[in-house]
Amino acid sequence: MKIAFFSTQIFEKDLFFKYATQNKHEITFFEYALNAKTAQLAQGHDCVCCFVSDLLDEETIKELQQIKIRLISLRSAGFNHVNLDAASQFHIPVVRVPAYSPYSVAEHTAALLMCLNRKIHKAYARVKEQNFKIDGLMGFDLHGKTVGVIGTGKIGSAFAKIMNGFGCRVLAYDPQPNSELPVEYVTLEKLYSQSKIISLHLPLNPETHHLINEEAFSKMMDGVFLLNTGRGALIDTIALINALKTNKIGAAGLDVYEEEEGVFFKDLSNKILSDDVLTRLLTFPNVIMTSHQAFFTEEAVNNIAQTTIDNITQFESFNKLPNQVLSKTHYK
Ligand code: NAI
Repeated sequence: MKIAFFSTQIFEKDLFFKYATQNKHEITFFEYALNAKTAQLAQGHDCVCCFVSDLLDEETIKELQQIKIRLISLRSAGFNHVNLDAASQFHIPVVRVPAYSPYSVAEHTAALLMCLNRKIHKAYARVKEQNFKIDGLMGFDLHGKTVGVIGTGKIGSAFAKIMNGFGCRVLAYDPQPNSELPVEYVTLEKLYSQSKIISLHLPLNPETHHLINEEAFSKMMDGVFLLNTGRGALIDTIALINALKTNKIGAAGLDVYEEEEGVFFKDLSNKILSDDVLTRLLTFPNVIMTSHQAFFTEEAVNNIAQTTIDNITQFESFNKLPNQVLSKTHYK
């Protein structure tokens, strides 16, 4: 298959080239994100390989169909950036990488929590400046604290177990509870009101869009720590900013942001940010933001490359596509 690879990042090239050539595929790397304007770059290829920064809306998918693209291969687990109804309408199957290392994301979530609580980001900068005072750096013991996990699938389960290891009491909310997990399933209301730390591990869909809004914040305890390594739009960012301004939120650890497209994965250090909401969010001393890197471990990236190329090989060999995403599960 001839693969048009969009939103290429440097770390991906060697790995994907290796797996693609081992499986006798040809691969062309484009730095551009895929959208309706850039879709023409895929002309002459059979398949597009996309990341979360690519926009596969109806217009883009129509363009892809016109240039005879036969497969959309996502190198991500999430697929909220794909209009699955349009893909189905234009008869282009969509495959994804459903699991590659839940530990990568769960451990990054724990890292955000630890950094925020023990103020490692501030301590690092202070000591670098030869300021060895510890005033203002006090944290709290995680042991004995209540952690609320929303979404206990692969990543949420891994995170809940890590928190168990710290000696936390773990509350959870998920419409499909996992009875084997050592957590107490409760209503969202109870989770909001009793958790010192709340972590989001559920998918983004029309029902979960802005789940964490002004009303949700009003039900949470003062000084709650909010962690989001799920998807940015699970949180209403304006409501988050207000909650930070009123000290409702003790700290926020964010690996995702609802308007991250066009910003994350780019070096904008010499540019003026045009997004005033993001700019405001970055001013809070108790907010740590990372650029959608929770998945970014050697193990996860290797698994992503291998599964992505396997998905493409299976399609070429007319095999069943176990990792196909169907439109009826749109926004799962
Ligand atoms: P998963 O499919 O294994 O688990 C999702 C869980 O959320 C399921 O148990 C499901 O029942 C539950 N859920 C669905 N609707 C819910 C609701 N309204 N309230 C509470 N729970 C609900 O998915 P996995 O692999 O654990 O990933 C979770 C999310 O993490 C993905 O949807 C993706 O958005 C995000 N993610 C982020 C990455 C990053 O690098 N920051 C990397 C990979 C995934």
